[in-house]
Amino acid sequence: QRRWFASATREENSVELESPGPAVPEDRRLAFKDDVLPFSAFLTDNFGRRHNYLRISLTEKCNLRCQYCMPEEGVKLTPRSQLLTTKEVLTLARLFVQEGVDKIRLTGGEPLIRPDVLDIIAEMRKLEGLKTIAVTTNGMNLSRLLPGLKDAGLDLLNISLDSLVPAKFEFIVRRKGFHKVMEGIEKAIEMGYRPVKVNCVVMRGLNEDEILDFVSLTETKPLDVRFIEYMPFDGNRWNFKKMVSYQEMLDRIRQQWPNLESLPGGKADTAKSFKVPGFQGQLGFITSMSENFCGSCNRLRITADGNLKVCLFGNSEVSLRDSLRSGASHEELLQVICAAVGRKKQQHAGMFSISQMKNRPMILIGG
Ligand code: 5AD
Ligand code: SF4
Repeated sequence: QRRWFASATREENSVELESPGPAVPEDRRLAFKDDVLPFSAFLTDNFGRRHNYLRISLTEKCNLRCQYCMPEEGVKLTPRSQLLTTKEVLTLARLFVQEGVDKIRLTGGEPLIRPDVLDIIAEMRKLEGLKTIAVTTNGMNLSRLLPGLKDAGLDLLNISLDSLVPAKFEFIVRRKGFHKVMEGIEKAIEMGYRPVKVNCVVMRGLNEDEILDFVSLTETKPLDVRFIEYMPFDGNRWNFKKMVSYQEMLDRIRQQWPNLESLPGGKADTAKSFKVPGFQGQLGFITSMSENFCGSCNRLRITADGNLKVCLFGNSEVSLRDSLRSGASHEELLQVICAAVGRKKQQHAGMFSISQMKNRPMILIGG
């Protein structure tokens, strides 16, 4: 039997690679979403979760060095020849969209430093069935690239910003650039992106004192500020005391704005949304640690080196790159994907187990 699944392991983070497992029987080819729309059984897991949202990391490199994302000494980069080429990224995107993925988010590292990012978006735009193309960026190159991104067909933008104090920003991201990011955010608003999402990872002793300032930002700007609970990844020195929980953040905000309104959310939303009445923007909380949203998880990830990761907090991965490069057919690739999706666990381990577990640093997974 031909072995077209991954044979190599990553030395630097010893991620476990799995074999594709048994073939999918024909009768599992189609599952039915809400009993009406057909949805690929290949992307449906054993708990009935339909994975219609794919996050693709375009690079392991970044022009910032955020403390919560990567170790100070940096990460060992995968040699270029082992990263997905533009063609491979697009082949995989096409395959997933044919199976029912309707939203793709480009992540990294910093996706906007990849020279062909505009071509990738423009090509993805042509995929029938793909409704939303999103990017998560640190905003450093954003104001320069925005016109091109808009032309290429980018729909949605998430921009990371963890402090409104320039010196503190620089401390957290270990680089200069606060004003460039703010300029990027302003330009995104100007160019009509709605909502413009701002990701703020809240860490005790670092930026928890700025929560109210971030909320104030939504008074006059149509931003969706999302406070993210600090999550443990390899090399980011997470500890429980540094994590500020959703409940604590909410309590603090309610002291200042007791009339904070909760907004209804969609089924697969990761954020719990709120709004201060009369403010232009809104806020959200990503409670991955204190209240996981595994039950409605609809996400799959592909790393820059071509591994499919079914859970952000799981270290099992399978190399789609190796399958592609060994000439696997469309059906064979689907079998590999299906088997990996079939192994997806019902939910991730608790935060303490996660913090002990071997995983990639976030920069090598893709925010
Ligand atoms: N905890 C929470 N969020 C994180 N991100 C990266 N590392 C972490 C972490 N340890 C998120 C940030 C950033 C995106 C790229 O990934 O929100 O905006
Ligand atoms: Fe770069 Fe984003 Fe990681 Fe910061 S969080 S180091 S901006 S990839």
